[in-house]
Amino acid sequence: MNESIAVDSLRQSVSDYYGRQLQGTEDLKTSACCDAENVPDWLKPVFSAIHPEVLARYYGCGLVAPALLDGRRILDLGCGTGRDVYALAQLAGSEGHVTGVDMTDEQLDVARTHQDWHSERFGFANTSFLKGYIEELEALPLDPGSFDVIVSNCVVNLAADKEAVLRGVFRLLEPGGEFYFSDVYADRRVPEALREDAVLYGECLSGALYWNDFLTLAKRAGFADPRLVTDRPLDITNAEVASKIGNIRFHSATYRMFKLESLESACEDYGQAVVYQGGVAGQPERFLLDKHHEIETGKVFPVCGNTSRMLSETRFSPHFQFLGDFSRHYGIFAGCGTEVPFTGQAEDAIGQGGSCC
Ligand SMILES: C[S@@+](CC[C@H](N)C(=O)[O-])C[C@H]1O[C@@H](n2cnc3c(N)ncnc32)[C@H](O)[C@@H]1O
Repeated sequence: MNESIAVDSLRQSVSDYYGRQLQGTEDLKTSACCDAENVPDWLKPVFSAIHPEVLARYYGCGLVAPALLDGRRILDLGCGTGRDVYALAQLAGSEGHVTGVDMTDEQLDVARTHQDWHSERFGFANTSFLKGYIEELEALPLDPGSFDVIVSNCVVNLAADKEAVLRGVFRLLEPGGEFYFSDVYADRRVPEALREDAVLYGECLSGALYWNDFLTLAKRAGFADPRLVTDRPLDITNAEVASKIGNIRFHSATYRMFKLESLESACEDYGQAVVYQGGVAGQPERFLLDKHHEIETGKVFPVCGNTSRMLSETRFSPHFQFLGDFSRHYGIFAGCGTEVPFTGQAEDAIGQGGSCC
């Protein structure tokens, strides 16, 4: 089949699934596109300030609310009816701005219907919505390097060309900016035949990347050191869906990837350390960079060169003290491996010390 016809029909099928077949979260056949993560207490007022119709049509699979968003320019890829746009708009405040992109008219219609309602409630208007494809971001009126943070919630798996999405994100981020996104990953490559099943694809399963292919694509797009923040295994309870996917296991995972040209391909040890000074909203006792970096306030925390750069060359820098530099190299940072990254429930992230990079 002609490739562009295949892409068009895939998009049409996904658009139809989200625009017409699903009317709300409860219509989903699996828990893949449904967030089982608990919203932390400090974010609860943010989500309770969102319009009920927007909340009822939420199809995300994770929490995409990284720290320190005040005054930031944020882009949400595949924003749907705008739950995350309206949450992040409150965190970005009157000096920040959140742009949502989606290809499905019905989803954007709901998002736009409630735009004024949210502006009145928040006391400022700082959102906009664009219709477009996330694998063709260059076709939208968005300037290269014009975003501090790009998020996405359960959408990259639905895109026909994942690598194009990642390349577009890298181009739109400013240096030091980050892509913070939740998506579904498979423990192996999903057979082509399953990708043609509209329900399996629409439910965010059969378009999912094998996790190690995702890491390869991310690195190729310029994100040298993707960091896993949380993950949870998906429970496939629908018998028909379960019988089709057989032994393939799926995880929902949130990654963060910084646009830092200086990052190395591995975690190298330069004898550096950081001290978290506190002051980040919701993180008074410890700063959670990723699943392996829970950095306690006031305590000297050894880091590899990449982690040092993720903290010193980004918006997190004012909240850290940095010890050491890159003048002397001590080899690979102990504990960094390439084993399967997913180990289970999101809660496992809390309590694991910084023994890795
Ligand atoms: C699983 S829903 C997630 C929606 C939203 N992020 C949320 O959390 O509720 C997927 C959304 O991505 C959109 N989408 C899927 N593929 C897309 C693409 N290639 N370009 C733009 N939007 C896309 C769909 O229209 C749908 O609104």
